[in-house]
Amino acid sequence: MNRLTLDYSNVLADAIGPEHGLDPAALDALAGPSEAALASIQARRDADLRWLDLPHQADVQRDVMDYAASVQGEFENVVVLGIGGSALGNRALHAALSSPFHDILPPTGMPRLFVLDNVDPDLVGEFLDVVDPSMCLFNVISKSGSTAETMSQLLVLRARLIQAGGLEAHRRHIVVTTDAEKGVLRPIVESEGYQSFVVPDGVGGRFSVLSPVGLVSSAMVGIDVPGLLAGAAAMDERCRSAPFHENPALVYAAIQYLMQSEKANPMSVTFSYSQRLACVGDWYAQLLAESLGKRLSRSGDEVFVGPTPISAIGVTDQHSQVQLYVEGPYDKWFTLLSVGLPDHTVEIPTAFDEHDALAYLGGRTMNDLFSAERDGTRIARTDAKRPNVTIEFPAVTAHSVGQYLYMMELAVAVMGEHYGVDAFDQPGVEAGKVAAYALMGRKGYEERRAEIEAAQGRERRTV
Ligand code: PA5
Repeated sequence: MNRLTLDYSNVLADAIGPEHGLDPAALDALAGPSEAALASIQARRDADLRWLDLPHQADVQRDVMDYAASVQGEFENVVVLGIGGSALGNRALHAALSSPFHDILPPTGMPRLFVLDNVDPDLVGEFLDVVDPSMCLFNVISKSGSTAETMSQLLVLRARLIQAGGLEAHRRHIVVTTDAEKGVLRPIVESEGYQSFVVPDGVGGRFSVLSPVGLVSSAMVGIDVPGLLAGAAAMDERCRSAPFHENPALVYAAIQYLMQSEKANPMSVTFSYSQRLACVGDWYAQLLAESLGKRLSRSGDEVFVGPTPISAIGVTDQHSQVQLYVEGPYDKWFTLLSVGLPDHTVEIPTAFDEHDALAYLGGRTMNDLFSAERDGTRIARTDAKRPNVTIEFPAVTAHSVGQYLYMMELAVAVMGEHYGVDAFDQPGVEAGKVAAYALMGRKGYEERRAEIEAAQGRERRTV
C-alpha cells in the first residue's frame, strides 16, 4: 500500500475534549458543502483551473525528460532564477527527493541545484564571487514573465555568460519557463533563441510545481519525474469525485476551515517529522498564505481572512518551538508529516552503559528514537488538548510526494470555497510588485511613485 493516509482522530472532541476538539457532527455538516465545492472546482478543470490536469500531461513529461537527457553532463550546476511559486516547489522537490548531501556525492553526472530566490546583493553577489556561470544552466522561471527579481537576475547572469563565452555560446546556458504569450520573457526567448517551456494557462504560480516550473530542474538533478506525476495522478483519481468521508483533500480542507472558524485557531503549523519534507512545509506555507489571505470575499465584501502558516521540523524544533505549542495560547492546530519507512537504519552502539542516561540508547536505532520523539510529541500535544492530524507518508518517494502536493493543492482550492475567497489570485503580492516597479522608475508607474513619495514626506520617528 503506497497511499498517503490522513489520521484526524486527534482533532476530535473524543481525543481532546469539546472545548478544543471538533464534534464529528460539525465535520458531517460540511460534507455536502465540501462535495459541492469540489464539483464546482472540477467543473473549471478544462478552463481556468488547468493545474488540476497537470499530472496527466504525458507530452510535457516527455519533453522535459528529453531536454534533461539532451544536456545531461554538460553543466556542473543548475540554477533556478525564480521566486515564490516559481522557486519553492523546485527547492521542495530537490530537498525531498535528492540526497541531503547531493552536492558532495561522487560525480554521478547529476548537477547541483541552487535556487536563487532572492535579490539580496549578499546572496547574488556571493554567488557571482563563488560560482562560475559558464559551468551553469540557468532555469529562468516566471509565469508573468516580468517579475523584477527574476528579470534582474536574468540581466545580471546573461551579461556574465556573454562576457565569459560570447553571445552565441551563452544561449545554451539558459532555459526559460514562462507563459506561452504574456510577459517580456516570451519575446526574449524568441529573439535570443533560448530553449523554453510553457506554464500553461490556468496554472498559477503556487499551483505550478507539477508543470515545467517544477519539473525541468527536477529532471536535471535526477528526480523520478514520472513517479512524481504518477503519485499526483493517483491522488487526483482518489479525490476527484470521492464522497467527503473517503476524500482526504475534502476532510483536510474542512478541518482547516473549522479549526479557524469554530475553534479560533488562526495558525496552521505543519510539523514535518522528516528532514526531507521540511521544504515541502515551506511550499505549503506559500500555498496556504497566498491563496487564503484575502481582504475581499468573492462577493467583494471586506473580510480580512486567512490562516497563518508555520513550518517546523521534527525533532529539531522540539527544542525550539514545542514549549509554545504545548503550553502557549490555544491559537494553533497542527499537521504532522510522518514517514512510515525511512530509507536508512542507523544503529546506536552500546557504550557507557553504567550510565542510565545512555544505557537505554545503546543497542537501539536512531529510527526508534526518532519515532519515539515524534509519537511522544504527538501524545504530549494531544494530552495538552492541542488539535493535531497526521499525514503519513509510507516512505518519502517521488510517488508519495506527488500525492501530497496534489492533495494539498486540491484541499486549498476547496478551502477557498469554504472561506468564500478567490484562492487563485494574489492582489497583495501584485501591490508590492507595483510599488517596487514605481520605486525603481519603471515606465508607466509614475503616478504610483508620486503617491509613495508623498507618503514618504511624513515625519519619520526613529530611535
Ligand atoms: O503564486 C504566485 O502566483 C506567486 O508567488 C508567483 O509565483 C511569484 O510572485 C512569482 O511570479 P512569476 O512566476 O510571475 O515571476
